[in-house]
Amino acid sequence: MEPTSQKTIERVVSQKALQMGSSFPCQICVVGLLCGVCITYFFLAVLTSFGSSEFGSVAYSTTSAGILWPNSSSEVINIITSGDCSSMPKETERRMDSQRSELNGDKRLSLLYSAWSAMLNESVDGEGDFLKRLGLSRSSVPEAPHLENCKLAMQVNKNLDNRRENEIFPPWTIWKGLLGVELLNPTSAVHNQQLHFEHQAKSEGAYPPWIMGSDEENFPFTRNVQRDIWIHQHPSNCSDPHVRFLIADWEKLPGFGIGAQLSGMCGLLAIAINEKRVLVTNYFNRADHDGCKGPSRSRWSCYFFPETSIECQDRAFELMANQEAWEKGIIAVKDNYTSKEIWVGRTPRVWGHPWSYLQPTTEINGSLVTYHRKMDRRWWRAQAVRYLMRFQSEYTCGLLNTARHAAFGLEAAKLVLASLIGEWPEAVLNKTISDMEQFVWSNHKPWISRPLLSMHVRMGDKACEMKVVEFEEYMRLADRIRKRFPNLNSIWLSTEMQEVIDKSRLYPHWNFYYTNVTRQMGNTTMASYEASLGRETSTNYPLVNFLMAAEADFFIGALGSTWCFLIDGMRNTGGKVMAGYLSVNKDRFW
Ligand SMILES: *[C@@H]1O[C@H](CO)[C@@H](O)[C@H](O)[C@H]1NC(C)=O
Ligand SMILES: *[C@@H]1O[C@H](CO)[C@@H](O)[C@H](O)[C@H]1NC(C)=O
Ligand SMILES: *[C@@H]1O[C@H](CO)[C@@H](O)[C@H](O)[C@H]1NC(C)=O
Ligand SMILES: *[C@@H]1O[C@H](CO)[C@@H](O)[C@H](O)[C@H]1NC(C)=O
Ligand SMILES: *[C@@H]1O[C@H](CO)[C@@H](O)[C@H](O)[C@H]1NC(C)=O
Ligand SMILES: *[C@@H]1O[C@H](CO)[C@@H](O)[C@H](O)[C@H]1NC(C)=O
Ligand SMILES: *[C@@H]1O[C@H](CO)[C@@H](O)[C@H](O)[C@H]1NC(C)=O
Ligand SMILES: *[C@@H]1O[C@H](CO)[C@@H](O)[C@H](O)[C@H]1NC(C)=O
Repeated sequence: MEPTSQKTIERVVSQKALQMGSSFPCQICVVGLLCGVCITYFFLAVLTSFGSSEFGSVAYSTTSAGILWPNSSSEVINIITSGDCSSMPKETERRMDSQRSELNGDKRLSLLYSAWSAMLNESVDGEGDFLKRLGLSRSSVPEAPHLENCKLAMQVNKNLDNRRENEIFPPWTIWKGLLGVELLNPTSAVHNQQLHFEHQAKSEGAYPPWIMGSDEENFPFTRNVQRDIWIHQHPSNCSDPHVRFLIADWEKLPGFGIGAQLSGMCGLLAIAINEKRVLVTNYFNRADHDGCKGPSRSRWSCYFFPETSIECQDRAFELMANQEAWEKGIIAVKDNYTSKEIWVGRTPRVWGHPWSYLQPTTEINGSLVTYHRKMDRRWWRAQAVRYLMRFQSEYTCGLLNTARHAAFGLEAAKLVLASLIGEWPEAVLNKTISDMEQFVWSNHKPWISRPLLSMHVRMGDKACEMKVVEFEEYMRLADRIRKRFPNLNSIWLSTEMQEVIDKSRLYPHWNFYYTNVTRQMGNTTMASYEASLGRETSTNYPLVNFLMAAEADFFIGALGSTWCFLIDGMRNTGGKVMAGYLSVNKDRFW
């Protein structure tokens, strides 16, 4: 269709839609459906309050440790009640006065949990005040298995995302983890001692390090595609006059949830690849808040590594002001494409048709889906989202730490205390780090309580996008998974509905993890609910749930929801194909 007539149709359609729908999200759906795509409004996930202190309380169906302190001081209590461990019962204060004797098991547990909370909140360097007040030093606190060292992860990943001079790839090796990084680092001791390893590790193995699992556990060609997208997005000389750019803002109408924004960007990445342009993303409204500091404000790079190099970004923005660059078509922007091209455009064919042999591991209504419409789009969105989220920013890493700590911190403390010889904190820790810890085990992901089933339950105003399914149906599927894997009893529940949380109490044989905050009740509209949470919370919280869902061992969701569709993509490029996916409904285009 001619671009201009397409645009006209859209205008007409959207006026119609405005008359038809009274709620904004449904308007968007109407517009979308009429032009062949339902741009989903989703509000995302589970709403909850969030942020370093707000995440403090996670509801457990199991744990509730009484907290007692070695020597009470009102200062400490204040810190505790003001957020750090607000899941702790209020009786704490009373009990503290009466029991100041020796540490018992519960006290040790809560002391360790609090020490970790304090370390999480403080900068990594320097002894925290809080620890001092607890009478602890950093070196006397055992490592937290569920927390990631975000600074170190950043360093390592930055190294893996930067090409060296005159090389095609960043220092990717076939060796996983820090050893691979160290041995290519000319200043490292390992490098100098073990130079002869270098050939072995570098040979042939230039695959992107962010792909987990074997080729069979991912969508076809995932490794090659990720590598090629990276190379496409990182030309060796951004100032080369042959390098062309597509500069695009993220969608920013209030009706677009994060999922819709991501889907739109996937379409733009496809266009960029097809037209041999480097995609440069610009204003990202969801990062326009105080959590995103400095140059990452309002940019994708607040949450994940940028889609292209800083040099290319700078170059692209410089060219925006250059008349000649426009005339020669070196620069293109979102307005150069119709929304049809962006939303339902052509999937890049440079890798052939790998979607034609996707492993059928998705089940809907009791049967495996072996073929469906738009398989190419499913495959491409998975690749594009995986690429955009290949490395988390330090900020996102911190958000995940906070979330894991709130959910699994006490369990982790229990495990660690049980593993120590002698009573902590009196016992002296042996914190010797051997090469094994440093180079090999350092590559393991932070601990979470596994096996874990992630469940995203959407209801509310989703009715305009898909057939809404009751929570009971999700739980029926969960029981089915458990029948095969009886050691599964934990569910990471992500939902915006209070009703769902209430119903979860009817399933005492499951442990539910969810953040304890106000949820949507009755007929509040999603848009106003989202607005009431504020931009930072309404972005961070769903993103954390999204990444947890991608990590979980199993997932149950509604493929009819774009958000779950993208989670499916992340799992299918994250080594989880063989976990299977039980969906309560199907995508509306299948
Ligand atoms: C984190 O530290 C800041 C200042 O150091 C403090 O204001 C805030 O309350 C702390 N948050 C938690 C959860 O302890
Ligand atoms: C959630 O928080 C509310 C008040 O903030 C509290 O009354 C309730 O007991 C908490 N629920 C759980 C399961 O901890
Ligand atoms: C507990 O007592 C020790 C010494 O008895 C002191 O160094 C420490 O600061 C006290 N901790 C708190 C939380 O008051
Ligand atoms: C990149 O290309 C520009 C223009 O062709 C050239 O002036 C510059 O020297 C090149 N930079 C490098 C590092 O090759
Ligand atoms: C993009 O649109 C602008 C303004 O309409 C136009 O000048 C430019 O040539 C277009 N670029 C491409 C690559 O189509
Ligand atoms: C699910 O499958 C059953 C038969 O296996 C069929 O009767 C039913 O209509 C299906 N439901 C949906 C929603 O497709
Ligand atoms: C600490 O552990 C290392 C091995 O992990 C061992 O070689 C060393 O002797 C231990 N040190 C002490 C003081 O126990
Ligand atoms: C929600 O329901 C209440 C009572 O059921 C009604 O008074 C209120 O107007 C409704 N709000 C909306 C936004 O529909």
